[in-house]
Amino acid sequence: KGMFTYDPGFVSTAACESQITYIDGAAGVLLHRGYPIDQLAEHSDYLETCYLLLYGELPNADQKQHFVSTVKRHTMVHEQIRTFFNGFRRDAHPMAVMCGVVGALSAFYHDSLDISDENHREVAAFRLIAKMPTLAAMSYKFSIGQPFMYPDNSMSYSENFLHMMFGNPCEASTISPVLARAMDRIFLLHADHEQNASTSTVRLAGSSGANPFACMAAGIAALWGPSHGGANEAVLEMLEEIGDVSRIDEFVARAKDKDDPFRLMGFGHRVYKNFDPRAKVMKEAADEVLAELGIENEPLLAIAKRLEQIALEDEYFIEKKLYPNVDFYSGIILKAIGIPTSMFTVIFAVGRTVGWIAHWHEMISGSYRIGRPRQLYTGHAQRDFVPLDQR
Ligand code: CMC
Repeated sequence: KGMFTYDPGFVSTAACESQITYIDGAAGVLLHRGYPIDQLAEHSDYLETCYLLLYGELPNADQKQHFVSTVKRHTMVHEQIRTFFNGFRRDAHPMAVMCGVVGALSAFYHDSLDISDENHREVAAFRLIAKMPTLAAMSYKFSIGQPFMYPDNSMSYSENFLHMMFGNPCEASTISPVLARAMDRIFLLHADHEQNASTSTVRLAGSSGANPFACMAAGIAALWGPSHGGANEAVLEMLEEIGDVSRIDEFVARAKDKDDPFRLMGFGHRVYKNFDPRAKVMKEAADEVLAELGIENEPLLAIAKRLEQIALEDEYFIEKKLYPNVDFYSGIILKAIGIPTSMFTVIFAVGRTVGWIAHWHEMISGSYRIGRPRQLYTGHAQRDFVPLDQR
């Protein structure tokens, strides 16, 4: 209408150019810097994929070793941040805590706040990738009243995360390689997804010149909602609500009912109108983990499997091209690993941090303008003020 395009939900508006990630939703293709996600999931690991997203190329052996050791140098958080946690209620949602503590990093790392300095920007990226698992695990430990675990840099990124989540200071952690690999895959499969709601939020916040830590806090807030990253938690809650395989039909019928706002969580995607390629890998990983742990018949997982089957064969879901998405299967794997449901979205945030920072960095390094959408005003026309005694 008139001077600009009206596009609620940004269904058909490109807000930037980017060289990081390519998605063809109709074909079910996802490429990072040109590499297909399934190849990365099979042959790469999370930190190598971080390097790829940030620098544009896969690292050689020396570059990889240097990158991994630099990340490890930054895994600890300032001791003062520990006291910051004590200000929260123990029953606070870990995502609420994360919104606060990640934003608070800007109060601690003054040598990475100057966005015009390439060095500052790079150190901020390292700090965020390195510290997110530490803060995530701290938000969990705080919620259950256990002592915070310091990172163990002799471990891989994902082993160390599981160590900080489930370890305690009284004994050495033993981390199952199967679970560490599954964890690493979850981080990798969440690493980036071009201009999704949280990444767009990070870009928009960054476009005003805000510091990277503050921008990440904005991304975390946007991720929290159940239509986005909060879906993995919502999937498990839904499976619990369904409760028994015999009740699946009832919930599927509700999802199809136009008058019922209920949606099957973990199904559908704005961009993918075909199987989400991440969901394919995640599904294989889920099968692998459940088989390794011998828990294929765990009741919630049995409901998930049956629901997947029913939805894939149902006319409504076929016609609307609603496939299980990445959050459907990641929820199942995280549950199998023993991660509490309230931490699911936090784990998504840990994995997505590199995507947020890569997009932020891409924007800041090039030419950009402040993001400032327009609107269609639908309110009152001009009118005269009415004094209080005449209203
Ligand atoms: N269950 C039942 N019906 C659905 C669902 C669902 N999960 N998703 C979409 N539909 C229907 C919807 O009712 C609409 O029907 P109609 O055209 O008759 O009005 C049609 O499909 C299109 O839906 P939409 O809401 O216009 O699509 P959107 O692109 O705006 O929303 C979505 C995409 C992911 C928010 C939505 O599919 C959804 O709410 N899914 C459940 C939540 C979820 O799993 N989110 C995770 C997304 S993947 C990872 C991430 O981003 O974090």
